[in-house]
Amino acid sequence: MASNPAPNSTEPVLVVRDLSVTYRTPAGPVRAVNGVSFSLRPGERLGLVGESGSGKTTTALSLMRLLQTSAVIEGGQVLLGGVDLLQLSEEDMREARFAEIALIPQGAMNSLNPMMKVGEQLRDTIRAHRAGSNAKATADTDARIQRALESVELRATVVNSYPHELSGGMKQRVCIAMGILLNPKVIIADEPTSALDVVVQRQVMETLRKVQEALGAAVILVGHDMGLMAQFVDRIGVMYGGKLAEVGPVRGIIKDPLHPYAQLLIKSLPNLETKENFRGIPGLTPSLLNPPSGCMFHPRCPQAMPRCATDVPALVEIKTDRWVSCLLYEGSPS
Ligand SMILES: Nc1ncnc2c1ncn2[C@@H]1O[C@H](COP(=O)(O)OP(=O)(O)O)[C@@H](O)[C@H]1O
Ligand code: SF4
Ligand SMILES: [Mg+2]
Repeated sequence: MASNPAPNSTEPVLVVRDLSVTYRTPAGPVRAVNGVSFSLRPGERLGLVGESGSGKTTTALSLMRLLQTSAVIEGGQVLLGGVDLLQLSEEDMREARFAEIALIPQGAMNSLNPMMKVGEQLRDTIRAHRAGSNAKATADTDARIQRALESVELRATVVNSYPHELSGGMKQRVCIAMGILLNPKVIIADEPTSALDVVVQRQVMETLRKVQEALGAAVILVGHDMGLMAQFVDRIGVMYGGKLAEVGPVRGIIKDPLHPYAQLLIKSLPNLETKENFRGIPGLTPSLLNPPSGCMFHPRCPQAMPRCATDVPALVEIKTDRWVSCLLYEGSPS
């Protein structure tokens, strides 16, 4: 990718500014991501949480520039080490993927090629990134694959297995190994455990944490299970209707959520120690084809005021590292 001064360790590794993405659909434009801004420090774990359809996957795919052709990035910046990924050529972006920023996509374990052995699929990931197939490159590739498998606690012989010969947890570990093959600075994991049972979920999350710490990579974990998320991440961004409703340290948000939607999300968790999933909150998720005026959340918000139907709240830092997008906090000291 284009060279730029390396960030020092106190600078964020990733800064997303005012990202907006629209899908062109036969029924009209769907603004799936609407002015999303956040930053990620080196080695930090950030969770993006929200109901289905809140724009989490679209955000993740935008950072990787892997959106479908029907999607248009309307604006914003994705600064990785100071370089705006949205401005890179296709070629430079291809080089940045996996080496700088990697995605473990939603449903990854079910999209492994059933006809190819695991080792071939891992090799393909490296090949897609690197030209040349001389003996040294092959030995380097094999060594990388072995290291990656070891770090996700899979035995080396897994390279000779077809996906159907592996359990769900093992397949998900293969997908994590794929994501870390080239030692990225940022790993995005989109609902990495949603298809797994609770015990395996925790084991896979533990592996992801170990791998991330060993690499010193930052992680964006996308999910809808606030309970699981809370145990893994340092900070949480709560998404609603394509926007960030609240961003802050996980403990602060769990103890004292400020945005009314975040408050309902936390309340809907019976107990963070139980293994129940998020049960949902009353009301329908907003239509992004025909979004509500004013604050996206006003039709469902128990604290809505008349002006919430007309005024659009901005995401503002209302106290140190606590960002909230709600008119209730307008004028709060920052
Ligand atoms: N390929 C697509 N074409 C049209 N609309 C889409 C497409 N993918 C997602 N959307 C819409 O974008 C919104 C956000 O979706 P998504 O990013 O997948 O949310 P999440 O990951 O939070 O469930 C939803 O309203 C969804 O219907
Ligand atoms: S701006 Fe109004 S409707 Fe929106 S979350 Fe705040 S109080 Fe509720
Ligand atoms: Mg999703």
